[in-house]
Amino acid sequence: MLESIKKTADFIQNKVKTKPEIGIILGTGLGGLVNKIENQEILEYSDIPNFPVSTVEGHSGRLIFGKLGGKNVVAMQGRFHFYEGYDMKQVTFPVRVMKELSIKYLFVSNASGGVNPDFEIGDLMVLSDHINLMQNPLLGKNYKELGVRFPDMSEAYNKKLIALADETASTVGIKLQHGVYVGTTGPTFETPAEYKYFRIIGGDAVGMSTVPEVIVARHSGIPVFAISIITDLGVEGKIIEVSHEEVQKVGAAAEVKMTELIKKMLEKL
Ligand code: HPA
Repeated sequence: MLESIKKTADFIQNKVKTKPEIGIILGTGLGGLVNKIENQEILEYSDIPNFPVSTVEGHSGRLIFGKLGGKNVVAMQGRFHFYEGYDMKQVTFPVRVMKELSIKYLFVSNASGGVNPDFEIGDLMVLSDHINLMQNPLLGKNYKELGVRFPDMSEAYNKKLIALADETASTVGIKLQHGVYVGTTGPTFETPAEYKYFRIIGGDAVGMSTVPEVIVARHSGIPVFAISIITDLGVEGKIIEVSHEEVQKVGAAAEVKMTELIKKMLEKL
């Protein structure tokens, strides 16, 4: 594993001039953020050694390097989901590579179903914490070069970055919700009983990504900021049929404010 991380990072460093300080993982409906990246250098996942290739509709697979909010960034347009059949080491491999490329912060976005009755479709939710109901990506041999055997998770989502998001959102008039993200494998959306259960155990939203990448980022010592677009509601009385198309449609509509928020946060970092 150590060798493949180094090999992939070396390959990228030989191809790309940008030295990224910030990594960004773009979820459903957030791919458009890349249009704001200046001085772009692009690598297709299929051209990067050891990178899996993304398959899901709505997720193209490219690494985009350049400048956003005056900072050097690397953005993943398209991520690897556990439900696609990748194992957790593959899902989180890009985070290991971004760490090797020396990123100092990781920003993550996703789409999720709200289970907090105060949420509305199209809301942005800053992740304050998560509940991992997926396989843990750190299972198996621990490489001490990458991180400790038993990583602390008391501040999975960096409090300073959350404060920066709140301050930035209020200056530009963006409403933010905050909450706990429940990570499930999918690919099924939830039954009404499952949505209710996720609420009872302390969740505010549920989705099929993010948690593995965040765990590996924390294992690597990288501070994380994550944000979710609430694309549907798993709230009693408000549950309607969900589809991937609907999730993408709502994601696209809310992505403009999310992009603005992230860009402005980077300016202040
Ligand atoms: N459940 C799980 N994942 C999701 C949902 C949902 O309701 N909406 C978007 N991603």
